[in-house]
This record gives sequence, structure tokens and C-alpha cells, in this order.
Amino acid sequence: MTKPKAPKTHTSIPATTEAPNPKDECYTPAWVFDDLQLQFSIDVCAPAGGSPHVTADQYFAFADDGLTADWGTGPVWMNPPYSKPRPWVEKFTEHRNGIALVPFSKGKWFEELWDTDAVMVCCPTNIKFIKDGKPHGIFMPTVFAAFGQECVDALYRLPGRARE
Ligand SMILES: C[S@@+](CC[C@H](N)C(=O)[O-])C[C@H]1O[C@@H](n2cnc3c(N)ncnc32)[C@H](O)[C@@H]1O
Repeated sequence: MTKPKAPKTHTSIPATTEAPNPKDECYTPAWVFDDLQLQFSIDVCAPAGGSPHVTADQYFAFADDGLTADWGTGPVWMNPPYSKPRPWVEKFTEHRNGIALVPFSKGKWFEELWDTDAVMVCCPTNIKFIKDGKPHGIFMPTVFAAFGQECVDALYRLPGRARE
């Protein structure tokens, strides 16, 4: 007899118990926010003390556990830990208001995001993130995904090539 599949809910998202992965401490450069011209309600996964450039009213760091915290209803910014993007992308997809910057992936979570009505725009491949205070290229291409009209409009303000 086959077991019926349980409906998908957020109970599948484990509470964060591990320490943050140092590889995830790689931040979005300032030009992204200069060009988006959008004030986010929350940066849902931020370093302790907040991200250097993210334009958000509030942030959740590891100690706040942005994964289980209440995101309210406003537009969120989400550049998740790339070591474990899946639960973040699931929560973002259910929130349906904000912009995420995620790696291209062959993972199921990416397919599921692709299959939503999120507007997805390739991030310039020459983007340099910020690691240890210095510009830092990463090996995988990344993509912006937006839900909500003001967030979709903001994506179209981004340039085709990354700024320095
Ligand atoms: C890729 S960085 C992005 C930082 C920032 N949002 C940005 O765009 O520059 C991901 C951040 O998520 C933080 N993080 C990891 N687990 C978290 C959690 N459970 N809740 C909140 N933040 C977390 C990491 O410490 C790291 O600073």
C-alpha cells in the first residue's frame, strides 16, 4: 500500500540550530539597492548588526532566525544562505511580496520557484558580492525573483551589466 503524500506546509522548515556557515557571509553590493530604488520592510537574512547596503526598515540575523520569524506583509529582501536555500525560497514563495537573489540551480527548489508566477531576471554574471569587506565573484550565476508589482517594477530598473 502506498502512503498518501502529506500536504506541503511550513512544518517542513526546521528551526535553525546550527551556527551560521561562514561561506554564507557574502553580501549584496550597494549598486543593486541604488538601482532598485526600493525600501524593503525586512532584510530577512542578514549578518549580525545588519547588512552594509540593504535598504530595509528592519533585519533578521541568525540570532533572530529569519526563517521562523514573522515576515509581516511588506516587501522583503532575501539573499539567502546559499548553503541551504530551499527553506528560504519556500517561505519567500508563500510570502509573495519581495525580491530574492538566488543561485541558478538544478535543485527541485529552483524548479518550484521557476514554476510560480514570480518574475525572474538574470543577475549580471560579472556581479561582485562583498566578502570580508572586498569585492568577491562567485562561481554560480544568480537570478533575481520578484513577487508584487512594486518589486517587479524595481527589477526593470536594474542594468544589464553589473556596476563596480
Ligand atoms: C548571503 S548573506 C546575505 C546578507 C544580506 N541579506 C545581503 O543581501 O547582503 C546571508 C545571510 O544570512 C544570515 N543567516 C543565516 N542563517 C540565518 C537565519 N536563520 N536567520 C537570519 N539570518 C541568517 C547569514 O549570517 C548571512 O549574513
